[in-house]
Amino acid sequence: METKIGNQSYEAFPMNGGQGQYSYAKNSNMQRIGADITKHISRDAIIEKLDVESLVQHSSNVIRIADLGCSVGPNTFFTIQNIIDAVNLKAQSQGHGLDSSLEFQALFNDHAGNDFNTLFKSLPEDKLYYAAAVPGSFHGRLFPESSIHVLNSSYALHWLSRIPKDIVDKNSPAYNKGRIYFTNEDKNVAGAYSAQFAKDIESFLNSRALELVPGGIMTLIIPCVPPDSKNAFQAQANIMENILAEMANEGLISQEQIDSFNMPIYMAASEEVKELIEKNGKFQIEKSELLYKLFDNKSQQIDAHKACMHLRAGFEGVFKNHFEEEGIVDEFFIQFEKKLAESPFLFSDPAYKQLGGLFVIKLLA
Ligand SMILES: C[S@@+](CC[C@H](N)C(=O)[O-])C[C@H]1O[C@@H](n2cnc3c(N)ncnc32)[C@H](O)[C@@H]1O
Repeated sequence: METKIGNQSYEAFPMNGGQGQYSYAKNSNMQRIGADITKHISRDAIIEKLDVESLVQHSSNVIRIADLGCSVGPNTFFTIQNIIDAVNLKAQSQGHGLDSSLEFQALFNDHAGNDFNTLFKSLPEDKLYYAAAVPGSFHGRLFPESSIHVLNSSYALHWLSRIPKDIVDKNSPAYNKGRIYFTNEDKNVAGAYSAQFAKDIESFLNSRALELVPGGIMTLIIPCVPPDSKNAFQAQANIMENILAEMANEGLISQEQIDSFNMPIYMAASEEVKELIEKNGKFQIEKSELLYKLFDNKSQQIDAHKACMHLRAGFEGVFKNHFEEEGIVDEFFIQFEKKLAESPFLFSDPAYKQLGGLFVIKLLA
């Protein structure tokens, strides 16, 4: 689905909406764990780095928090509440009492096609903030200048703003025939993905630099590949490619449909993300952590069924957009779960470290 903002058009691939068995709301526990195990880092950063006292003097005691790529919940409510708790703690340490007159506004951003109805129907009843939706791509401007105090984005920045053009261009050396993702061996395709990601991170940071108030803070959880680790998503995409090839052999889909299909995400190396933030130069990384170092054994337990449901909640829309024939996508995910179950190394090999890096970054004054 393509949306246009000003002169820019962006491709949008929302998660599965609603509360059904394949919904993001019901299949996003892995992201929830990520938010949970990093919350102390975000809290400490807010307490150490956010001067609430001085910020509210310029904002009529209102603290504005935005969650970019919020999807349908419930993880976004958890994240917003954690940020509010940390800001309150800091405010109290700076002399604001429990009867503090601080007010909070939570701004939930995602593509316009996101299921905002489900999001707002499930807002916590006891929430102590004013909620509003901000539809649109976070690769462009979303908020007025210097208006947001704390920005967060979790598990969203690996979604590209578009499929790199060259990988669907039959005349390009980066044409990704027969594959749906990149392998490290194919430098042209990998380069096209990496260049698109670099552009996207740059436009994201440039917009946020304008929107964050001086002294504001941004927390990002970006799925990426830790040093000396195998890229688990490449292995999963390879399984997907094999299933699609089998479906083409059976005549269920055409080879042309496979050749023109590519996954619109990019799992960068964690160092690559760091370098892009540093190269942009508008923010300073105050803290960064690799998620797998924070996981305990319990939170890492995942099986083929859970992995399939998790990926289906995120990617079903992408597949349905491209393979429109009735029943194809259901069949694809039935086969995918089977193949994942036949690939236990994906869940047991310690080289496939859990994805993700957390970056707490502050606007340079
Ligand atoms: C995997 S979900 C993460 C949801 C939530 N942040 C969490 O941690 O559970 C990624 C979300 O990012 C959104 N997204 C991806 N690219 C976006 C963009 N350019 N602008 C706004 N939202 C975007 C998707 O629509 C999706 O809802």
